[in-house]
Amino acid sequence: MKVGSIRKLEELKSVLKDTHAIGPDPVYWVFSELSDLNWANMTVIAPGSYSGEYPKTFGHYHPEDAADETYHLVEGEGVLMIQKKHTENGVWVPDMVDEVYLIKAKPGDEIIIKPQWGHAWSNTGKGPFVSYDNWRSGHTKADYEAIEKLQGLAYYLVEENGEPKPVPNPNYKNLPEVVWITEEQFQGGVFYKH
Ligand SMILES: [Fe+2]
Repeated sequence: MKVGSIRKLEELKSVLKDTHAIGPDPVYWVFSELSDLNWANMTVIAPGSYSGEYPKTFGHYHPEDAADETYHLVEGEGVLMIQKKHTENGVWVPDMVDEVYLIKAKPGDEIIIKPQWGHAWSNTGKGPFVSYDNWRSGHTKADYEAIEKLQGLAYYLVEENGEPKPVPNPNYKNLPEVVWITEEQFQGGVFYKH
């Protein structure tokens, strides 16, 4: 196993609700070349708070023709925010999204991400958050660009009375209401209403 990348607070600030926040630094580590060959990467997110916002991954999209990605929560408590790209006449409109889900995950949960979904994990627990994923294609600047420009995904996840609460990101033109779901309701990367 080796350290693939380290995300410093200075780099994450551009997508935080409070861009001057102080808190855990580094925010998260991505390890590669795992001994378990079923998985490509392991992500470890520090616990803590940035002016009330939970530590999180930067957030990104995958290329349109990408294969699905699978995440497996190993340890800790996490919420995966996913938002579906909005397109008009076949053209992606980055500051509008069609659907936003918050998936409250527990260890053992596996979540599939299809290419049209932007996504970021938040560590909502008191200890480290540890996940595996099978993403072997790496990332380019383009995966992060739109999200950085909009200062994050469509919502910020902040702690309120000990519970995670989504706060709208005003840089998005439309904000569909967030729907809280479980891993069981998102089988195969598709939301099933129960
Ligand atoms: Fe991803």
